[in-house]
Amino acid sequence: MLKEYVIGIDVGTSGTKTALYDRNGKTVAGVTFDYPMMQPKNGWAEQNPEDWWVAASSGIKEMVKAAGDGKILAVGLTGQMHGLVMLDVNCKVLRPAIIWCDQRTGKECEEIERRVTRERLIEITANPALTGFTASKILWVRNNEPEVYEKCAHILLPKDYIRFKLTGEFATDVSDASGMQLLDVGNRCWSDEVLRLLEIDRSLLGTVYESPEVSGRVTDAASEITGLDAGIPVAAGAGDNAAAAVGTGTVTDSSAFTTIGTSGVVYMHTSTPKIDPKGRVHTFCCAVPGEWHVMGVTQAAGLSLRWLRDTFCAEEQEEAKASGRDVYDVMCSMAEKSPIGADGLVYLPYLMGERTPHLDPNARGCFFGISAVHGKKDFIRSVLEGVSYSLADCLGVFGEMGAAPVSMAACGGGGSSPMWRKMLADIYDCPVSTVAPAEGPALGAAILGMVCCGMYGSVREACEQIVRLSQTCVPSAEAHERYMQIYGLYKELYPALRESYAKLSAVR
Ligand code: XUL
Repeated sequence: MLKEYVIGIDVGTSGTKTALYDRNGKTVAGVTFDYPMMQPKNGWAEQNPEDWWVAASSGIKEMVKAAGDGKILAVGLTGQMHGLVMLDVNCKVLRPAIIWCDQRTGKECEEIERRVTRERLIEITANPALTGFTASKILWVRNNEPEVYEKCAHILLPKDYIRFKLTGEFATDVSDASGMQLLDVGNRCWSDEVLRLLEIDRSLLGTVYESPEVSGRVTDAASEITGLDAGIPVAAGAGDNAAAAVGTGTVTDSSAFTTIGTSGVVYMHTSTPKIDPKGRVHTFCCAVPGEWHVMGVTQAAGLSLRWLRDTFCAEEQEEAKASGRDVYDVMCSMAEKSPIGADGLVYLPYLMGERTPHLDPNARGCFFGISAVHGKKDFIRSVLEGVSYSLADCLGVFGEMGAAPVSMAACGGGGSSPMWRKMLADIYDCPVSTVAPAEGPALGAAILGMVCCGMYGSVREACEQIVRLSQTCVPSAEAHERYMQIYGLYKELYPALRESYAKLSAVR
């Protein structure tokens, strides 16, 4: 029998993962190509769209080889949300993409709320103006690089740039478009009112699709570069979190997951749009047509650990290389030797400002309580704990909204660490499970591809067939109590530092 496959592509922040799946969601092959993130100034973050395409097209070529004489029926796309890609009339990239964790747009957020008003903005886009979102990035380019803005003919999100390279179409999907802050999130279409008030020409934006819809087909030119058959459909896809929801089967009311990648997210599915009036969590369309999700975001989750690794853990990197282990495993083994509370060392993970719950681009990281007794194991543990407390903050906001999850899965690099999962279960005080297959966004994107090419009738049907929860970590009451003592203190630190962060931003 002819073997049939679908490709999922995840344009992440540290690299692009491309994987080949069969209809049961079994990974046949997968590869990740990494690229850099440029930080030209404190709080800025940029990447080259061409790096994404080189990584994605190289990945596809390998998947085509891995498929052998089987047939690839569709491609599904996902990726980091919010990044601003600008193309000129000849479809050339005009400047490096300003990506999701960039914090330069504080003034533009004020401008957006002045033009639209905060109340109306929340009514339409379901969220207050945020530095991470695309609208403020567009205004920043218009205010600071008018010569670039003048030449701009197309605005795309990261995964949508890959779509353009594969299909020639300018398009996006409702979940990723929600993070642009130009979408009417309740009605799932561009908001003419917001576009008019911000003076952004609608023709700059692509067509918006529901996630499992066909958004275009592979062109002859892309077929030549990648080896894919011309004409195969590319699903609209989803932002990385909405795709992770599909990949973890988080597609029914009040099911939830925590993902720890570069950022950290606590995500909950909801069949009606639920909005936090204080704007501390995001309300976006999800990849199930006609439904939504809420999510809280920790800007620097895995990024905190990666920063610690790169800045202070050369020895551990050497040790990992010598023993063939993953460096994060080595670091987690060290952290396990430090007690809960890291012997009185508390970490605030605000390396790239913070969204949930503080909405403060000026916030920065902090180790509180350093003593001469502390060693590297305590620093690593306090980073793992600080990120987990920040994720607990997200869950706390859901609680205030009266929206408690009924189940919690864990995914992403951090979610695959048994130690981090147990820490989350103990801090959240709820069971935290992994999912099988443990593939997250790339599988979610592929499932959307499977629905778009007719392998399955709907996203939910595909998830029921493909994804299941496994390996549940159960919380310990004693550990929870101990963590809560530290968490209480953690929660006091940001309010005490808020003013100082603003001053720091003025003097740095
Ligand atoms: C979500 C967000 C991040 C990025 C990068 O709002 O900014 O999760 O999608 O992964």
